[in-house]
Amino acid sequence: MPDYPLFSGSASDQLAELVGFGLGRRLSASSTRKFPDGELAVTLDVPVRGQAVFIVQSMYPRVTESLFELLLYVDACRRAGARHITAVVPYLGYARADKRHARREAITASMLANLFTTTGLNQLVTIDLHSAQIEGFYKIPVENLTAVPTLCDELRHSLPSNTVVVSPDEGRVQMAREFGRNLSFPIAVLHKLRSSATETKVLNVVGDVLGRACLIIDDMITTGGTISSAVAALLKAGASPEITVAATHGVLVEGAREQLSHPAIRRVVVTNSIVQQRSDWRELTVVTVAPLLAVAIQRLSACDVGQLQCQDLKHLGEQEMSLPPSEQISVSCCQ
Ligand code: R5P
Repeated sequence: MPDYPLFSGSASDQLAELVGFGLGRRLSASSTRKFPDGELAVTLDVPVRGQAVFIVQSMYPRVTESLFELLLYVDACRRAGARHITAVVPYLGYARADKRHARREAITASMLANLFTTTGLNQLVTIDLHSAQIEGFYKIPVENLTAVPTLCDELRHSLPSNTVVVSPDEGRVQMAREFGRNLSFPIAVLHKLRSSATETKVLNVVGDVLGRACLIIDDMITTGGTISSAVAALLKAGASPEITVAATHGVLVEGAREQLSHPAIRRVVVTNSIVQQRSDWRELTVVTVAPLLAVAIQRLSACDVGQLQCQDLKHLGEQEMSLPPSEQISVSCCQ
C-alpha cells in the first residue's frame, strides 16, 4: 500500500476522519492557529519531503477563511518539499462565479484556479462542480467526482413510482438526466430567473408534472430560495404535494431550513461534503461521501506509485467502491 500523508483542514476534520478510516490510516498531524487579528498559521507536524500528499478541506463554513487555510496547507507542503500535492475539496466555493454576470465583475472561480496553481497545487479532487467549464480554468488535473449514485442509493426505495426528476434551472439538466437514468424516472426542467443572491422566480415548467411526485435535484442548497420557488411552481403546475429534494452540497445558511419547511417537502437529502449539525431536523438526511473520496484517494495514490494504471474517475460512484480487503470498512454513519 503506498504511503502518503493525509491532512485535514479545520473545515473538514469529521469528513477527513471518515475518509482516513476508509483508507485504514490516521490523519497526519498538523495544526491551524488563529491569531487575535484573524491571521491564520498552518504547521505540518510530519515530514512530507519527496512524498505525494493529500489535503482534505471543504470550503464551508467560513468560505474565504477555509479557502485561505487550504492555500496555507498547499504552501506549507510545497515549502516542505512535497513531491505532489492533491487538494481534496468536496465542496468548492466561489464556483458560481464562473462567468461575468454583469459588467466589471470578477470571475472568481477562474482567479481561484490561478491562485491554487501558483501556490503549488498539482491536482484537485472535488465533487459535483457547479459547472463543467470550471475544469477549464485549471492547468492541473481536476477530478470532478459525482455524488449522484450515492444520493440515488439513498432515494431508490423511498420515491413513489410516478416520480419525475426536476431540474430547478437550465444549469442542472445534465445532473437531472443522471438522476433520471439512475432511478429510471422521466425529467422536467424549470426555467428559473435569478433577480438577486436570495431571490429567484420560476417562469416556466417544461415537462409533465401533473399529478406526479417530484424529486427536485440541485448541486447545492444555499438559502433554499431556488427550491422554495421550484416547489411553488410545481404545485401551481399541478404536481402532487409529495416532494423530495436532493442536493450534493448542503450549504444551508441561516433561514434555509425555514425555506425548506413547506408541507409538500417530505424529505431533504444532502451529503456530508459540508458538515451538518442539525440533528433536530427530522426531514433532513445526510449521506456520506467518505467512501467515494477514500476510493478516489486510494486509486490516485496507487496511480502515483505506478501500482495502478491511471484512469478516469468520473464514474467512480457508479462502480462498486471497493478498497483492498485489508482496508475494507463500512462507513454507514453520517455526520
Ligand atoms: C444555481 O445555479 C445553483 O445551482 C443553485 O440552484 C443555487 O446556488 C442554490 O442557491 P439558493 O439555495 O440560495 O437558491
